Amino acid sequence: MKKTALIFGITGQDGAYLSKFLLQKNYEVHGVKRRSSSHNTYRLDDIYNDQLVKKSNFFLHYGDITDSISIFNLIKKTKPHEVYNLAAQSHVAVSFEIPEYTTNADALGTLRILEAIIKIDKNIKFYQAGSSEMFGKVMETPQTEKTPFYPRSPYGAAKLYSHWITVNYREAYNIFACNGILFNHESPLRGDTFVTKKVVKALCRIKFNKQKKLFVGNLYAKRDWGHAEDYVRAMWKMLQHNKPDDFVICTGKQYTIKQFINMVAKQLKIRINWKGKGIKEKAFDEKNNCIVECNNKYLRPTEVDTLKGDFSKARKQLKWKPNHDINSLINDMISYELNTFNND
Ligand code: NAP
Ligand code: GDD
Repeated sequence: MKKTALIFGITGQDGAYLSKFLLQKNYEVHGVKRRSSSHNTYRLDDIYNDQLVKKSNFFLHYGDITDSISIFNLIKKTKPHEVYNLAAQSHVAVSFEIPEYTTNADALGTLRILEAIIKIDKNIKFYQAGSSEMFGKVMETPQTEKTPFYPRSPYGAAKLYSHWITVNYREAYNIFACNGILFNHESPLRGDTFVTKKVVKALCRIKFNKQKKLFVGNLYAKRDWGHAEDYVRAMWKMLQHNKPDDFVICTGKQYTIKQFINMVAKQLKIRINWKGKGIKEKAFDEKNNCIVECNNKYLRPTEVDTLKGDFSKARKQLKWKPNHDINSLINDMISYELNTFNND
């Protein structure tokens, strides 16, 4: 029997990769997009242009996770077997600027979906997009499903509520609800203001004289970066597992922002030389032009200094492992940027 999935947050990075993945598995895919005054479905253009994807299986609906009525109506109307909650105000720094909205969407949004599921059909399987940000000021390294949480931002705290309310509804109502605890994952479709995309885009533009300088914040935070393509496969595998559970999804490797910049520069054959310390640290190219500078405005009131996960449970129980490493991720992101230039 053909399965139906409903994706909240379909217009985001993961929504686009997950849609493509499920369509290739012959799912009927319904997605929820927000009303916007400008075009917000560009990440889905690829699906419309892909000859291999059956467009008759793909539907978009207006809705919002801060609006219980639209959530309830859409679950009732689309009758999904699986619901993926990827919708969120997902920028950690922005969550300090709009904490109340972030909490409404990222915490209460999950509760609204869970409540609709138990009222409409308890057989619907549910995936919650949890985050390594919940580990925050890490209590141990590497982080596993058993590591205690210590969020460091309104975003992290809201995701922590979503984590526990998903566990609670699973236990209280016996529904198939899973938390993915996903570490940072990136791709060519990553939003422009996340550090990897910002660095790749800027260094490509600097290489081809379209931009002079890149401004960043903390160069020494460490992240465990994977590829979104691998991580959406893990989301689906969780919902096909023989029991609902929570899983850490990561690569087990970590790099600083500075190392990431160096790796991107290396692939682009830009030779850079770092000078100075702290907020005054700068990178210069071979002609001694300053191409990377730090700016206080990108620092956060509280930072997550280090994240590095252990995906042993997912490897054992879901038979999941990442196919991309950091270099293939960077290569994919650079190729996309350079192609975009050529099509400009
Ligand atoms: P993203 O690119 O920022 O996408 C977020 C999606 O949520 C977009 O479709 C956005 O719509 C939608 N959205 C935001 N507020 C909404 C609302 N009020 N109602 C309905 N939809 C709303 O994020 P992503 O990188 O794909 O991440 C997907 C999910 O995984 C998020 O929940 C994120 O917090 C979580 N996560 C991400 C990572 C990561 O490294 N990428 C790691 C762990 C967890 P618009 O397009 O209209 O803005
Ligand atoms: N965005 C950004 N911009 N971050 C910068 C910059 C900059 O100019 N300079 C340094 N950083 C540092 C941040 O301080 C942070 O330590 C690190 O780069 C990563 O920042 P982001 O790329 O914004 O990602 P994040 O780790 O805060 O959050 C992402 O990953 C989480 C999973 O751990 C988001 O995708 C979250 O939604 C996700 O849950």
